[in-house]
Amino acid sequence: MSPTRIIIDTDPGVDDALTILLALASPEIQLEALTTVHGNIGIEKTTRNALAVLEFVNADCIPVARGCSLPLVGTPPRSAEAVHGSSGIGKAVLPEPKSQPMDQHAIDYLIERILAEPQEITLFSIGPMTNLALAIRKEPRIVQALKGLVIMGGAIRQGGNVTPLAEFNIHADPHAAYIVFHSGIPITLIPLDATYKCLLTTSDVERLNRIDSPIARFVRDSTAVYMDFYKKYEGFDGCALHDPLTLAAIIAPELLVFEELHVDVDISGGVSLGNTFADFMNVSKKPANMKVALDVNGRGFIELFLERMESLACKI
Ligand code: BDR
Ligand code: CA
Repeated sequence: MSPTRIIIDTDPGVDDALTILLALASPEIQLEALTTVHGNIGIEKTTRNALAVLEFVNADCIPVARGCSLPLVGTPPRSAEAVHGSSGIGKAVLPEPKSQPMDQHAIDYLIERILAEPQEITLFSIGPMTNLALAIRKEPRIVQALKGLVIMGGAIRQGGNVTPLAEFNIHADPHAAYIVFHSGIPITLIPLDATYKCLLTTSDVERLNRIDSPIARFVRDSTAVYMDFYKKYEGFDGCALHDPLTLAAIIAPELLVFEELHVDVDISGGVSLGNTFADFMNVSKKPANMKVALDVNGRGFIELFLERMESLACKI
């Protein structure tokens, strides 16, 4: 079977960077481009990190389009430097990239690419959905032309990680999430309910570092701040691989447990801003608008992640 062709819309970010590595290490996937967005840190740094990670693994032929620096409504989003470090990639240090983002804005790049090859491109959204929402508003035909959309975002039965009720990516641009959820695009949602079960531990990182490789060291150094944060605030020795888990929808769907649900997002502006809620009892009589991963074989995914990183580490 030919690999699934994907574009990742991303705010790197430690787990975003690991997602890029996992995509490049996975033969089931052909990574065609990255589009960047504000989120974990500002757009300058997310774009820089996207370029730097690609150069790090000799994949700088993959284009990067820079996207939006602000959400649709409101003030600049809360940054996640406490989790991802001020550079966005923890304690890892990557050389300043030589390559540049393309001249085209991410919104226009997404529209052009998706319309050029209808039903060919699957988009992975692993940051706030500002670029995608504006692309839908500018060119609604992309809704029919996308093959699929996999989103890391939301917390369905689980509490939030940025407010008691909201997950970071959705909270960072809830209005964008609202546009996307109501667009009609076939959505696969990977919320915190699943991602918090995929915990990379310090002993996993030590196992990977038995291979003397820049990849193994990058995983160790990039996750260091992330792991400190989890230890301090969440009490466990490791970190959740939120964004990498989205790729399981292609490379290991058997690890995920899905339910078809109607999911909406609160944009009313109160304490539940950005809360994602599912109509489990179908009281609204609305058809399902997405497939939601409510459970996962978390350890199975971590093993797969480690195997893929080990094989990449043996090459680089
Ligand atoms: C999401 O928030 C970001 O900090 C991570 O990169 C991930 O996309 C998890 O809530
Ligand atoms: Ca992210």
